[in-house]
Amino acid sequence: MANRIPRSSSCFFIFLLLPLLLQFCSGKSDLQLNYYSESCPRAEEIIKEQVINLYHKHGNTAISWLRNIFHDCMVKSCDASLLLDNAPGMESEKNSARSFGMRNFKYINTIKQALESECPGTVSCADIVALSARDGVVLLGGPEIEMKTGRKDSKVSHAADVDSLIPNHNDSMSSVLSRFQSVGIDAEGTVALLGGHSVGRIHCINFVDRLYPNADPTLNPAHVEYLKRRCPSPKPDPKAVEYSRDDLATPMVLDNLYHKSILDGKGLLIVDQELASDPLTSPFVQKMAADNDYFHDQFSRALLILSENNPLLNDEGEIRKDCRFANKN
Ligand code: HEM
Ligand SMILES: *[C@@H]1O[C@H](CO)[C@@H](O)[C@H](O)[C@H]1NC(C)=O
Repeated sequence: MANRIPRSSSCFFIFLLLPLLLQFCSGKSDLQLNYYSESCPRAEEIIKEQVINLYHKHGNTAISWLRNIFHDCMVKSCDASLLLDNAPGMESEKNSARSFGMRNFKYINTIKQALESECPGTVSCADIVALSARDGVVLLGGPEIEMKTGRKDSKVSHAADVDSLIPNHNDSMSSVLSRFQSVGIDAEGTVALLGGHSVGRIHCINFVDRLYPNADPTLNPAHVEYLKRRCPSPKPDPKAVEYSRDDLATPMVLDNLYHKSILDGKGLLIVDQELASDPLTSPFVQKMAADNDYFHDQFSRALLILSENNPLLNDEGEIRKDCRFANKN
């Protein structure tokens, strides 16, 4: 009798094991912190080293990594479908109109090669998309974000769905909000994420319709004159290199100057400007413009939700050997 475990404590023991057992039986594990701790212990360090090296050579790579996570995770799943090249019968998402201006894809291969030489076939391209964005944000003066890993890569591109899943520059705020809502991001998170436009550039073709033939009255009139000098042609060639920025003062820093600028009528895209004027979003814009720490907290929260959108787990996807191509089986 003396060495029998009391019934109440054995029940408690089973209760503790239950989630583990369930996970074991279903054979499915969720995203987790340090997913590669045993299979490739230096994975996260390697990615960070490469992101830092690339940033010192080409500062705008960090900006590209941030745009990448949006364009990958917003389209069905954070599955690196964005990175696939054209293949027979398969159009690349990179060629879609919404991907206009995206750059630096070739340097993803630099990161992938560093991982392949240490741990072949182990770290997914989808996790590279997520962690490179996370590490890029820090280099851009943004917040540090703890991200889970374990995403698998898709075998197919979702090019045909890009237009319906990534908002256009002139969409209504209600449609933008419902797109973000459908991946679990509320209005406050949307206002924070659009703060991504605090870094990088926007080509004239995306906003000349607000300058010519008549200036959009919601644009700051002095800014219209400035932008007309930046964008002299009312019908720029899609290959034209002229651009401006939402944050002219610190375009390499992820700060709340974006929110200040759109309140000043200097948002370039219609969606930028709507964010400042729509009653559902403008209170958050004002609060972020006044408080950079609050912006960063909300940005972290929303980027994390985005980064966990519908990941492919276990055998739902593969670990691509080259981020540009599905593996040949
Ligand atoms: C309604 C949602 C959004 C729309 C319509 C939109 C649209 C655009 C457009 C048209 C450009 C300019 C491309 C060019 O002319 O080269 C751009 C640039 C950019 N976007 Fe967005 N965007 C949205 C949300 C986001 C989000 C959520 C992020 C990230 C958190 C993001 C990150 C960026 C970055 C970093 C750039 C600059 C890229 C560079 O300089 O290479 N965008 N976006
Ligand atoms: C939005 O911009 C696209 C070009 O990107 C254009 O084809 C379309 O007509 C515009 N829509 C509206 C409602 O202005």
